[in-house]
This record gives sequence, C-alpha cells and structure tokens, in this order.
Amino acid sequence: MHRHLKVVEDGEPFAFSEDNAAEVKRILAKYPPARKRSAVLPLLHLAQRQNGGWVSRQVIEHIAGMLDLPPIKVLEVATFYTMFNLKPIGRYHVQVCGTTPCWLRGSDEVFRACRDMGLEKGRTTDDGLFHLSEVECLGACVNAPVVQIDDDYYEDLDYERMKAILEAFRRGETPKPGPQVDRQFAAPEGGPTTLKEHVK
Ligand code: FES
Repeated sequence: MHRHLKVVEDGEPFAFSEDNAAEVKRILAKYPPARKRSAVLPLLHLAQRQNGGWVSRQVIEHIAGMLDLPPIKVLEVATFYTMFNLKPIGRYHVQVCGTTPCWLRGSDEVFRACRDMGLEKGRTTDDGLFHLSEVECLGACVNAPVVQIDDDYYEDLDYERMKAILEAFRRGETPKPGPQVDRQFAAPEGGPTTLKEHVK
C-alpha cells in the first residue's frame, strides 16, 4: 500500500532519491537513447509518488532536463492526464467515482459523507489530511460505489461506511481496503453461489 511519505509544499527543490534514481535508470534503459523522451510518463509517475503525490514546477523542470525536452513539453503531458496533480493534495487523495454505475449505486451518498466530514471537491482540508476529487470510472463497477484512496480501492460503500473510513484515517488508522460488505472481491454477498466444488 502506497502512502505519501511527506507533504511537499510549493517551491521545494526536486531531485530523484537514490532508490528512484536507480529506477529511472531501469526505465530509461527500455527506450532507445534517441527516443528517451518516451519515458516522460513513467518518470512523471515516479516523481509524483516521491513528491508527496503532486507534480511541481521543480519536478517538471527536473524531468525536462533529464530528457532534453523543453519544460513546456513535460507540462503538456502532465496537464493532459488527470492522474497527475499539479497542486499539493494533502496526505490522502480521496478519489470518488461519480460515473453512472457508481452513481446508480449511491455515489451521491458517498459524496455526502465526504461533505459531512469537511471534504470539498477539488480542495484540501484545512488540516492538510484529505484532498477530494471526483473521477470517472475506476474500472471496478462490480463493487460500486467505489472510492480510491491513494493506491487502494474501497468498495461497496454507502454513507455510513464512507464516513467510518474517513474517521479511521483521521484517527491515524488505515482501514482495510476492498469490499466493505460481506463479500470476497466480486463474489456475491454471503459467499459464492457457483463454482463451489473443485473439479478434479
Ligand atoms: S463506474 Fe465507478 S468504478 Fe466503474
């Protein structure tokens, strides 16, 4: 499970850590030297993880320098993909899916729980703990409604369950990801109804 290791403020200098510098080498080795600019996506992804979950101007300039690109080219990529955050996003990035299957299964109630816990769409809470975003389908509609918090999916949510999850994070705990009802992954509640016997 990945958590942001630190909160990075605007203007902080950026260079890859020793571990990540080794990872950068591995990434760059996948591309012919004349095409190293193709590494811009994985490098931005790696840098965002190291930089507290967001891509600063310093990150853009650092990667541009590594890839011999004008910084604007790296910025164009970073602004195109919603997965890159261009502002500090607090300790936990709460991404609530609002696409039709999740909406039909109650994502409005999930948003209501967020609101009641002081989270506002597109903003970081005053304590710097949560940043709330609405996102499109997270590819787990079978467990709708779904919320992604950093790298983890919290599934089969309703108002109470979402509130309990946020309260747990606020207490410094890490609630167990996955379905929040009695089901294993996408199996029916209460256990599987088919394929119960092993075929020899
Ligand atoms: S619609 Fe929410 S995960 Fe697909």
